Order: sequence, then C-alpha cells, then structure tokens
Amino acid sequence: MDRKEFITICGSSCLGLAGLSLFLESCANIHYVQGTVSNNRLQINKSDFVILNEAEISYRRFVVADFKYSEFPIVVYRFSERNYSALLLRCTHQGTELNVHGDLIMCSGHGSEFSNRGDVVQGPAEQKLKSYPVATDERNVYIQLA
Ligand code: FES
Repeated sequence: MDRKEFITICGSSCLGLAGLSLFLESCANIHYVQGTVSNNRLQINKSDFVILNEAEISYRRFVVADFKYSEFPIVVYRFSERNYSALLLRCTHQGTELNVHGDLIMCSGHGSEFSNRGDVVQGPAEQKLKSYPVATDERNVYIQLA
C-alpha cells in the first residue's frame, strides 16, 4: 500500500466514523411517547417535553409519538407553552418514513428535507408534510387525527 492509498483509506474511515457518531447522537436525542388515543384525538402530556436538570427545568424541542393507530409516527414540536406543530413522518414524495434531526426532518429515500412546520426545505418532495390541528390545556397537548 502506498502513502496516497493509505491516506485515502484512513480519510474514508474517519468520515464514516464521524457520520456514525452523528447518527447515533441524533437517535439518542429522540424522546418517544405513546400518548393515548380516543375519539380520533391523540393526547400527549406536556410533562413529556420537560427535562429536569437538578433545580432547572428545560424543554425538549420535540417528541415523537409512535402509536398503534398510525402506520407512521407523528413528531410534535414545542415552540412555546401553547404553540405546537404535529406532523406525520411520511415523506410526501414516495411515502418513506422520515427521520427527525432536531428542527430538520429528513428522508433517506431521495434526500428530501422538511422544516419543523412541515415545509419543504429541499426536494424532490414538492408538498409539505401532513399536519394536524393541535390544541392545548394546562396539562396536555391534543392532536386531532381526523
Ligand atoms: S421518498 Fe422521500 S424523497 Fe423520495
């Protein structure tokens, strides 16, 4: 093996490890919730967004609801105490299940990307994600499924 070949192999390995590290980090940050469904309404407790760090309270930007009534999960973003979005994690291009990476929702099918409001950031998808009406009260977030 010559020097150039060695550097090429080492560089590729380092990039692969860096990519794997990012992937594992993003998976570790996803908080899954079950929620409860009744009358076509998914209910998620607001406490699912809370992160307790000793005496300090912070909030998750989103949770993913993975429940038996839907073929695809729903990501619920929290923008403020009363402002949320709920998006079906199904790509509008050809129906692949989407992955959440912080405020970006990505498709492994052909590379489409969507914002945390469901807008297309990058194609080939042209239509925004299916979103659901969201209501809140003091304790819960309610997502109207139909
Ligand atoms: S299925 Fe998502 S980009 Fe094609």
